[in-house]
Amino acid sequence: MVDVIVGLQWGDEGKGRIIDYYARDYDIVARFGGGDNAGHTIRVGDTKLALRIVPSAVLQERCDLFIGGGTVVSLAGFLSELDSLAKIGVDISRIKVSDRAHVVFPHHSEADRRSEAARGSGALGTTGRGIGPAYVDKVARSGVTFGDLLRTDGLPQPVRAHVVDGAEYIHAALECGRRVLAEGAQGTLLDVGYGTYPYVTSSHTLAGGACIGLGIGPSAIGRVLGVVKAYATRVGGGPFPSELHDENGERLRGAGAEFGTVTGRPRRCGWFDAVAARYAVQLNGLSAAAVTKLDVLTGFDRIGIVTRYRVDEKSATFGAAADPRLKVDIEFVNGWKDDLSGIRRIADLPLAARGYVKRIERSLGVPVECVSVGPERSQLAV
Ligand code: GDP
Ligand code: IMO
Ligand code: MG
Repeated sequence: MVDVIVGLQWGDEGKGRIIDYYARDYDIVARFGGGDNAGHTIRVGDTKLALRIVPSAVLQERCDLFIGGGTVVSLAGFLSELDSLAKIGVDISRIKVSDRAHVVFPHHSEADRRSEAARGSGALGTTGRGIGPAYVDKVARSGVTFGDLLRTDGLPQPVRAHVVDGAEYIHAALECGRRVLAEGAQGTLLDVGYGTYPYVTSSHTLAGGACIGLGIGPSAIGRVLGVVKAYATRVGGGPFPSELHDENGERLRGAGAEFGTVTGRPRRCGWFDAVAARYAVQLNGLSAAAVTKLDVLTGFDRIGIVTRYRVDEKSATFGAAADPRLKVDIEFVNGWKDDLSGIRRIADLPLAARGYVKRIERSLGVPVECVSVGPERSQLAV
């Protein structure tokens, strides 16, 4: 069986740290899409890693790590990640990459930067990693896969040992009863089909993307867990209906250290958006959720939640996110002052914080299984 963990917003929800925690119950953790546009942070004790393409279970020693066929991988980026993981003592022989994964070449990054420059003020704000151009080549049937390079001796020696027949690898594992966790990158609202197009990434980030990205059928999927920040952020351009342009937004950015893991850019910040979250629950067929960064809201007198979109005084769906006439309704709930960082049980959260989590749970319509209260692995209330 394959379970899936995805982000429900615009990325950077804290997927890495949640995957690191859940990974202890799995044999293989597998990335199914995207490339090194992702930055997944995990912190265990004093060790802090920001993983770009290698799955977020490197610090769970018994997990194998698989980079699936739906990804696009830079050779230089992969080599440097292997190198830095080996240096801190990670057994990198656990890391496998599918022969179907596509190679991102330096000319893809150059094309990415050129097309951003050509868009001028309408630039998407990509990470500049060549992700879009690499997927363009894949779909145009002019891309190059890891399998192609393996067959033509075009792969650097240190990468060769990691390449496997991706379909054979995953199905052999499933037939032996190995438990697989599929790791999403980016977030639901950046999905190329269902996000805020064209301000999206170039892959399918939804749970359904795990099927194509790993080469498995929908009947192989078990649970789908969604990771959602207790507020909202977005890096790069595009619609963001709950964005705050005031001191509350500044405060979220400061308290949450909301600066991009990959590019260092300040992230745009806003209140939790229940309309967007409900849309994400539907698109992913969500089973349960993890709420992250609740500690960041400590000290706010009132916390906002966007509860409704309106266009010309009529209720609207997430599909109206880019409509210039869009207005949002915001409900305010009471905040709390207590330090949450040492809390390990949801039941022990202060009343107002517990009420806020319940409010998020109600808007999602699925159970909240855990709540993170700090970046370190143990800072999780269950
Ligand atoms: P991902 O891309 O979804 O894996 O998320 P990122 O790693 O890009 O961004 C999440 C950031 O928030 C990282 O710097 C994490 O260390 C940090 N973080 C994760 N969970 C918590 C939390 O509960 N509280 C706080 N304060 N920081 C957190
Ligand atoms: P993780 O996995 C946040 C955003 C970029 C840009 C848009 C397109 O860490 O959550 P791309 O380089 O993919 O063509 O950029 O998508 N973006 C992310 N934002 N977290 C990410 O990954 C992202 N990956 C891409 O900022 O707006
Ligand atoms: Mg990230």
